[in-house]
Amino acid sequence: MSAGALSDAKIVECWGTNAEAWTAAVRERRIESRALVTDRAIVDAVLGRSPHALLDIGCGEGWLGRALAGRGIQVLGVDAVPDLIARANAAGGGEYRVASYQQLAAGAAGFTADVAVCNFSLLGRESVDTLFAAMPALLRPHGVFIIQTLHPVLACGQRPYQDGWREGSWAGFSADFTDPAPWYFRTLASWLALLRTHGLRLLELREPIDPRTQQAASVIFIADLLRPA
Ligand SMILES: C[S@@+](CC[C@H](N)C(=O)[O-])C[C@H]1O[C@@H](n2cnc3c(N)ncnc32)[C@H](O)[C@@H]1O
Repeated sequence: MSAGALSDAKIVECWGTNAEAWTAAVRERRIESRALVTDRAIVDAVLGRSPHALLDIGCGEGWLGRALAGRGIQVLGVDAVPDLIARANAAGGGEYRVASYQQLAAGAAGFTADVAVCNFSLLGRESVDTLFAAMPALLRPHGVFIIQTLHPVLACGQRPYQDGWREGSWAGFSADFTDPAPWYFRTLASWLALLRTHGLRLLELREPIDPRTQQAASVIFIADLLRPA
C-alpha cells in the first residue's frame, strides 16, 4: 500500500525512490548551499562539542561520518532507507544501520551519544515528535542534540507562516530526481516550542550565512537535556 501523499511514511518512501540520485548529488557536491555553507556549519557545530560518540540520525548516504573520520569519533548513522545505508556502509567512515526514527525511539540503536545530530533530516511531523521524546534515552550525560534545518523565515516562501504539510520540489536538482518528498513546515517559534516541550534547553541558535546572498542558508539549534536534579 502506498503512503498518504503528505505523511511521514511518504517522506521515507520518496527518499528510497531517490537514493541513487541523492547519493550522486551529495558525493559530487552538486548542492551549492551545502558546498558553500551548510556542510562546514554542521561539521563545526559537531566538532565544537568534542564528541567521543556521534549518532547521525537520518544520515542518508553517510557523508557526515566520512567528513569526521580520522578524528577518533565513534559514529553510528541511522536512516530508514536501506539503499542509502548500503551506500553509506560501502563508503565507510562509521557504522550505519537501517532504522526509522520510530525504531530508534524504541531502542533499535542500543547506542548513546555525546552528540545526536540531524542534518536536514527532520522533515516529518509525528516521526519528529517521537524522536524528540526519545532524546533522554539517546544522549549521554552532558550530551547535546544538534539540528540543522531550512531556516523557516526563508523557506516559507509565499505561503502563510504557519505549521503545516508542504509538497516537495526538486527544483534546481537534476532530472534524475522523481517524486519529491513532502515535508512538514514549522515556524521558528514551533521549533523552539518543540524543544521545550521535550525538556530540551536551547544552548545556541546559529544562522549560517550564504555568502552569495548574505541571507541565512539554514538554522542550527544546539540543545541539551534538562534532566531532573
Ligand atoms: C535531506 S536527506 C539528509 C541526509 C543526510 N543527513 C545528509 O545531510 O545528507 C533526509 C534523510 O532523512 C531520512 N529520514 C526522513 N525521515 C525519516 C524517518 N522517519 N526515519 C529515518 N530516516 C528518515 C531520509 O531517509 C533521508 O535520508
